[in-house]
Amino acid sequence: MIISFVNQKGGVGKTTTAINLAASLTRRNYRIVLVDLDPQGSATKWHGVEGNQAFEVLPQPAVLTPLDVDTLSNAYDYVIIDAPPSICEITRAVLAISDIAVIPVSPSSLDLWACTDTLNMIEAIQSENPGLEVKFLINRKIPGTRTGREIRDALSGFETNIIETELCQRVAYVESMKYGVSVVQFAPASKAAEEIERLSNELVKEHDQADETEMDPIAALYQDETDNILFRSFQSFN
Ligand SMILES: Nc1ncnc2c1ncn2[C@@H]1O[C@H](COP(=O)(O)OP(=O)(O)OP(=O)(O)O)[C@@H](O)[C@H]1O
Ligand SMILES: [Mg+2]
Repeated sequence: MIISFVNQKGGVGKTTTAINLAASLTRRNYRIVLVDLDPQGSATKWHGVEGNQAFEVLPQPAVLTPLDVDTLSNAYDYVIIDAPPSICEITRAVLAISDIAVIPVSPSSLDLWACTDTLNMIEAIQSENPGLEVKFLINRKIPGTRTGREIRDALSGFETNIIETELCQRVAYVESMKYGVSVVQFAPASKAAEEIERLSNELVKEHDQADETEMDPIAALYQDETDNILFRSFQSFN
């Protein structure tokens, strides 16, 4: 499963949310790799902070071929991609290979206006990658403000899914980056950690449900048979 964080607007929280989601999924024993495709290399720098071995971060490779992507998808449960803040060839390539594109947006008109360009790019790629799921993620919401309350309504005008979990503006997100850890490691009992756990739950739950419905028909047959055998032996035992 490839989850990418994209938005042509800078500073909306792509890197912060990608890192925190990756860390949270690692704690759940999923095999995680974060691919840093942003030329600024923020996730790579974060990973370079001493003591942080939570999960692997692949610094920007020269090219990411479909073969590389296949290899990564087979070796890891989740490949998380941090995309650059621009509409460029890298972002296009990321969208072409992703299962889910998460667009972090903060509650500001500037962010809302900038969504259109990102959505147009996604629309252009959807014929190439028709399975691509697109989801807005509200980030940096300031609790108790009108703008914070209105953002969901404003985003619903775009007819794109909106993740139920909302991430608020919290100092733990900033502080944890400084120490090269996630909010879940930095302040496990904090509201920020709780938000990230909820975000992971939401994404993993959907993934697990998709896995169930996509069960291999042969495996499903065996499962039925196993159930029957168990049922029959249970009957004969009684
Ligand atoms: N929920 C939050 N609460 C507080 N600060 C946040 C939150 N999310 C992100 N930030 C801060 O906002 C700034 C921008 O975040 P980040 O670097 O993750 O955005 P980005 O979209 O990856 O930026 P770029 O487009 O430049 O790569 C950082 O200083 C980060 O610590
Ligand atoms: Mg970034």
